[in-house]
Amino acid sequence: MAGYTHGHHAAVLRSHRTRTAANSAAYLLPELRPGHRLLDVGCGPGTITADLAELLGPTGRAIGIDPSAEVLAQAAALAAERGLEQLSFEVADVYRLPYADASFDVVHAHQVLQHLADPVAALREMRRVTAPGGVIAVRDADYAAMAWHPQLPELDDWLALYRRTARACGGEPDAGRRLLSWAHAAGLTEARPSSSTWTYATEDERAWWSESWAERTLRSNTAATALAEGLATPAELARIAAGWPRWAAHPDAWFAVLHGELLVSVS
Ligand SMILES: C[S@@+](CC[C@H](N)C(=O)[O-])C[C@H]1O[C@@H](n2cnc3c(N)ncnc32)[C@H](O)[C@@H]1O
Repeated sequence: MAGYTHGHHAAVLRSHRTRTAANSAAYLLPELRPGHRLLDVGCGPGTITADLAELLGPTGRAIGIDPSAEVLAQAAALAAERGLEQLSFEVADVYRLPYADASFDVVHAHQVLQHLADPVAALREMRRVTAPGGVIAVRDADYAAMAWHPQLPELDDWLALYRRTARACGGEPDAGRRLLSWAHAAGLTEARPSSSTWTYATEDERAWWSESWAERTLRSNTAATALAEGLATPAELARIAAGWPRWAAHPDAWFAVLHGELLVSVS
């Protein structure tokens, strides 16, 4: 792990916890069957993993892996709360998955490849543990394709700084558009690409999205890396963070996040 850009600060986790299979993995849902064996790579707090596990039913089996034991403890608590006995979690690294070849019918990773220094090697390892007839599903945002209104200079600076910081951590923030090229480089030929969006435009959505990014700008790993790498000063971070509530207060404010998606059939 080259240094996960966001880290697991409370503001980051709050944002990840709003994710569901419906809002983050809709492209995968038609592929799922009761009884499937599913691996969720970089599952974080596990909200999507739990939804996917539920859809596999009691005869299914789902495992969420993440290098962070701390975030997995939260994921396990959520699974217990929801009574999902078919779901478990393990500390592991996508580059060295502790599973035999062809162990899973579905291998899923949501917003993970963008943070990796070698997404092609990760896809090869995900392919190794996927059984013939199975599917690999990946989805990543594309920061350069994010669109919003009104066009405040602070938000332009936020995007430029975020993209520089993610790259300083060894990741690729404009991952959505690159998923297909990474799959091809990994030798995966049966790929079905699609895209989808998240939109933040109601008053509540705008408030939540802007508070989350204001806090992350000041206090997450992103902030620490930006300062450590000399990409921003504390005053610049404060100015960018203050731009978010100004944007959200605008009655016409609108923000859309574009994601690339890929379903890869394994034969
Ligand atoms: C943006 S979060 C996504 C979490 C979850 N998939 C979701 O969408 O809510 C990225 C996750 O990838 C994990 N990660 C980073 N490097 C990894 C690696 N080498 N192997 C597996 N997971 C990794 C991080 O710890 C983090 O939990």
